[in-house]
Amino acid sequence: MARITASVYTSHVPAIGAALDQGKSGEPYWQPVFAGYDFAKQWINDDKPDVVFLVYNDHATAFSLDLIPTFALGTGAEFKPADEGWGPRPVPTVVGHPELAAHIAQSVIQDDFDLTLVNKMDVDHGLTVPLSLMFGQPEAWPCRVIPFAVNVVQYPAPSGRRCFKIGQAIRKAVESFDADLKVQIWSTGGMSHQLQGARAGLINCEWDNRFLDRLIEDPAGLAQMPHIDYVREAGSEGIELVMWLIARGAMADVAGGPSPIVRQRFYHVPASNTAVGHLILENQA
Ligand code: DHB
Ligand code: FE
Repeated sequence: MARITASVYTSHVPAIGAALDQGKSGEPYWQPVFAGYDFAKQWINDDKPDVVFLVYNDHATAFSLDLIPTFALGTGAEFKPADEGWGPRPVPTVVGHPELAAHIAQSVIQDDFDLTLVNKMDVDHGLTVPLSLMFGQPEAWPCRVIPFAVNVVQYPAPSGRRCFKIGQAIRKAVESFDADLKVQIWSTGGMSHQLQGARAGLINCEWDNRFLDRLIEDPAGLAQMPHIDYVREAGSEGIELVMWLIARGAMADVAGGPSPIVRQRFYHVPASNTAVGHLILENQA
């Protein structure tokens, strides 16, 4: 059977991708950001997943106000890096896993979550920057990736409670797939940032770190937090953090298993306009 071995959480700031693509990762501004991912690169290289189920949000790239799916599952065979204004990032095409994705669609939809199935879609920095942070700059991504795009751009976005529950349904789906696959689930976005209006540039270190504490120790309680708290405390784009409850909901302890091992915790300000947060939680074997 397939199993979820670990969850990874990380910010997905586009300027991080640009810094890497333009060879600036050693510059004093960027060096401490990338250093926070040295552990992750070694960790993932030591025990490569077969598939990453990658939760992110599209930033009006593949979708627009014409079409706003709340939860969009990438069921296609491949996904190309999107052109976000400076041309597509020079990173490999993302290879999907249509068989596992179709199984997840069957299981999660029959579990009462209405997913949008997407066979053709380009993927933006929300998905490609986390791949770069974790894998560096390979010729091809070393595993398959199933994109899972969550609407946190146009209200109404899904609640933390619903994200936590869909994570549990995704775990059930993965662990009923009849193939010996190591699957990781990643959630991206956040932490505190606001890109617009009078509060542009907002960062809230204390709140972010409390969020990390609670994500580790009290995810069910954290899932009850209303949107207004995210937006007031972590800024208008801080709402991306609700997606972190999806990966957390997919961990073994939520279904009655043992607590996860905290392999890495990293927090750094600033990267562009954002507080970078990163966490690795591993299920006990
Ligand atoms: C920034 C951060 C984001 O998460 C994003 O989607 C776009 C921009 C930033 O800090 O610049
Ligand atoms: Fe974003």
